[in-house]
Amino acid sequence: MSNNPEQTASFGFREVPEAEKEGLVREVFSSVAARYDLMNDLMSAGVHRIWKDAMVEWLGPRPGWKVLDVAGGTGDIAFRMVEMARNRGGEACVTVCDINEQMLGESRRRAGEKGENAVAWVCGNAEDLPFPDRNFDAYTIAFGIRNVTHIEKALAEARRVLKPGGRFLCLEFSKVEVPGLDTLYDAYSFKLLPQLGSWVAGDADSYRYLAESIRRFPPQAEVAQMIREAGLEQVKVRNLSGGIAAMHSAWRI
Ligand SMILES: C[S@@+](CC[C@H](N)C(=O)[O-])C[C@H]1O[C@@H](n2cnc3c(N)ncnc32)[C@H](O)[C@@H]1O
Repeated sequence: MSNNPEQTASFGFREVPEAEKEGLVREVFSSVAARYDLMNDLMSAGVHRIWKDAMVEWLGPRPGWKVLDVAGGTGDIAFRMVEMARNRGGEACVTVCDINEQMLGESRRRAGEKGENAVAWVCGNAEDLPFPDRNFDAYTIAFGIRNVTHIEKALAEARRVLKPGGRFLCLEFSKVEVPGLDTLYDAYSFKLLPQLGSWVAGDADSYRYLAESIRRFPPQAEVAQMIREAGLEQVKVRNLSGGIAAMHSAWRI
C-alpha cells in the first residue's frame, strides 16, 4: 500500500499527511534511543519487564525456532526469547527488524555486552518486510504496531512471513478496562510522562507523542478484528495491568 497524498495519518493527536508519519516516528525514536531503556524503567516503574516476560512466556519459544521480532528496538523481547529457548535445551534464532538504525545500534551494543550471538539485526519496515514468504515459526511485535502508518499492511506482512502453523504475538498499550484506573492513568500520561521525558531525556515532545499515540490506538476488540481481517486465525486477547497493555495472539493456519 503506497501513501496517498490526500490521506492523513494520526501522529499522536495530530493528523499529518500519510507520507510524513514514518519520518516523524523515526525522529521520535532517534531522539530517545540512547535513553530508551532507562526511560522505559522509569516510566513504568519496571512493569514493562513483567509485561515482556508475560509475552515471551505465552509464546514459549523452543530450540530450533526461527523468530522475527518486528519493531524490536533495543532487543528486550529478542534477548528474552533466546534465553527461554536455551532454558529449554537449545538455541532459537531471533531476528530483530526495526526501521530505526539508532535503536538497532543500542540492541547490538547490548548484545555485545551480553556476549549474545543468537540474535541478528535487519533494518526494515514492518509494512514491507525484507524476508521471504513462510519463513518464520513466530512473529512478535511489542509496542511497535501503533507506530506503523498502515497497521493492516503490517499485519498482512506478518501473515506472509509466517510459516503455516506459525504464531503471531503482539504486545501493545491498550484500553484500560478498570473503572477509576483510566482517570489516574490519563493524569499520569499527559502530565507526569512528558515532564519525566523532559528531565531524563531532555525531550518532552517524544513522550507526549507516546501518550497521545496510545490514546489513538484502537481498543482490544478492534485490534482483534484487524488481525482476523489480515487472515490470521484463532485470535485471543490477554489484558495486562487492567488493560494498560494487552497481548493479541493468533496463528497462520
Ligand atoms: C516503543 S519502541 C519498542 C521497542 C521494543 N519492541 C520494546 O518493546 O522495547 C517502538 C519501535 O518501533 C520501531 N518502529 C516504528 N515504526 C516502525 C516500522 N514502520 N517498521 C519497523 N519498526 C518500526 C521504532 O523504531 C522503535 O524501535
